[in-house]
Amino acid sequence: MFTIKTCGTTLKVLLVKLVLLLSCIAMQSMAAEKSSSIQTPALHAPAALAQSLLLQNPHARTAISLNGPWRTIVDPYENGFYNHRYLENPNGYFKNASAKSPSDLVEYDFSKSPLLEVPGDWNTQLERLFFYEGTVWYQKSFSLTKNSHKRYVLYFDAVNYEAVVYVNGEKVGRHEGGFTPFQFDVTKQLQAGDNFVVVKVDNRRERDNIPTVNTDWWNYGGITRPVTILELDRTYISDYTLSLDLQARALGKSRISGWVQLSGDSPKGNTNIHLQLPELGLDSALDVDSSGKASFSFEANPQRWAPQNPKLYKVVFRYGSETLEDEIGFRDIRVQGEDIVLNGEPIYLRGISIHEEKPGGEGRAWSEAEAVKILTMAKELGCNFVRLAHYPHNENMLRAADRLGLLVWSEIPVYWTVQFESEAVYQKAEQQLTEMIQRDKNRAAIILWSVANETPNHNLRFTFLKKLVAKARQLDATRLITAASDTQQTVGGAKKIDDPFAELVDVIGINTYCGWYSDKPSDCAAMRWQSDYNKPVIISEFGAGALAGLHGDKNARWTEEYQDDVYRYNLEMIDKIPFVKGMTPWILKDFRSPRRPLPEIQDYWNRKGLVSESGERKQAWYRLRDFYQGKAGG
Ligand code: GCU
Repeated sequence: MFTIKTCGTTLKVLLVKLVLLLSCIAMQSMAAEKSSSIQTPALHAPAALAQSLLLQNPHARTAISLNGPWRTIVDPYENGFYNHRYLENPNGYFKNASAKSPSDLVEYDFSKSPLLEVPGDWNTQLERLFFYEGTVWYQKSFSLTKNSHKRYVLYFDAVNYEAVVYVNGEKVGRHEGGFTPFQFDVTKQLQAGDNFVVVKVDNRRERDNIPTVNTDWWNYGGITRPVTILELDRTYISDYTLSLDLQARALGKSRISGWVQLSGDSPKGNTNIHLQLPELGLDSALDVDSSGKASFSFEANPQRWAPQNPKLYKVVFRYGSETLEDEIGFRDIRVQGEDIVLNGEPIYLRGISIHEEKPGGEGRAWSEAEAVKILTMAKELGCNFVRLAHYPHNENMLRAADRLGLLVWSEIPVYWTVQFESEAVYQKAEQQLTEMIQRDKNRAAIILWSVANETPNHNLRFTFLKKLVAKARQLDATRLITAASDTQQTVGGAKKIDDPFAELVDVIGINTYCGWYSDKPSDCAAMRWQSDYNKPVIISEFGAGALAGLHGDKNARWTEEYQDDVYRYNLEMIDKIPFVKGMTPWILKDFRSPRRPLPEIQDYWNRKGLVSESGERKQAWYRLRDFYQGKAGG
């Protein structure tokens, strides 16, 4: 229903019916023209359009970047948010006030406050913030040529951990979770000319967060990924997905199916979304249904995306004044007994685990250049697979994996001992899972969604993971589900995989630190493994610490020789386990951890990297590289 002010009175006019009637007439005529090569549902004029959680492919849109220096205020007591009665202050720092006269009392001033680079964590930008956990306020002023026919969405690729966002002094929303994107429609709040955004960022760890208070990675706080204002048509393409059709596969046929979603205002007249896949000769007009969605399916036999041939197809959607391009690969992944089968062939996953840190340095990585550099290091190691631990990495990593031909295990930080008994905590985990899948569902490289890492084996955890797995399958039936476990016990001299969580997943991840946290390195080669499950297993972690350049007896901890010995005997052990179909040793690069203070060796670095923080390759790097060359038939 639209309200129109006229002659001083308000006339409520039910325009929807008129629009529906007109668009039905319009669509009937268009229906006859739609391509017969593509199946779309019966035509209905759209009423209220579904609003998508997250815009798909945001960085291919018309946008204003807010990356660059932001003014910041460190606020450990949240003085800019609460008054002295610990109530939200309506005149907090988000008002971006300044003294208008000499008698005014304003006890902050963004314009004179320190600058921090966005994207970027604060820990590695200012020495005094290295260990800081708390609130930092960010402020950015900018000018906008506002188009009254457009919609404006403020899109954050990620903020760790909690963000409260204000535009021109008005709160537009809050987001929790440090590694997934979020957005707010700010069309109303933005004005032509000068504007400002203020974000309250709080990276404090909380027992009821996801992750919880203890992790073995640095709690980098800040606006750690890009910030963008997207300029969209009032009615715009908000979401889409395309993949090989599973039903067709079951019939031995090859089809591409998917859907595309309009959001925003109900379309006036034009309900045709054009879809093109030029290389596959597809160019069709799709008619949306009453929610603004058009599903499609068409015969096609694209080159299958694979590490050795990471073929991506240009996909073009057109609606109104918008042309939206993406690059999408088409591949088939499934399990068959103990095998992982890619495009019909069993595959061995030659992987490595990766934390999201700058290559050759520290701090959060976020850019395309860093993504390419990190994944190129994995390729040089001989990998066809990477485990992006322990949280969703930035979108550049997934797009680079698509282009470089690296299969991906992508994960949410249900890490160690979260509060499995809490429904509120479950909702946080499910939200992050949903945001991860929503953002990355079109990335062919991703074959595994992981819902947990090293969680304790008990009923509450089983129930928690069972719900998460069901949610993942509901969101995406095309990928495999996994989780990493460290609960295997030694029974009768053999390691037994008998954790009931394995019933829930397609592929079982096993973290084992034979020769580091238990046993001597030389004990590992003879270690036998048994599994209660006829499923593929990935050894998702093994490894040892070494300080690059420290050499000595192989029995001496922290020497490169010790680490190399651990790799030697673990590789020998793993290579003999018939149901192991891949591995992601821990870890590509030394990374910052608050759990690793050992002076002169760790100094708050976890030293299990195959390369140091400055990129020096350790002895074990070459051993793994040679092993993978053998595995690849090199
Ligand atoms: C664990 C955990 C990692 C951690 C590693 C280690 O298995 O999954 O996050 O860094 O072991 O102890 O180094």
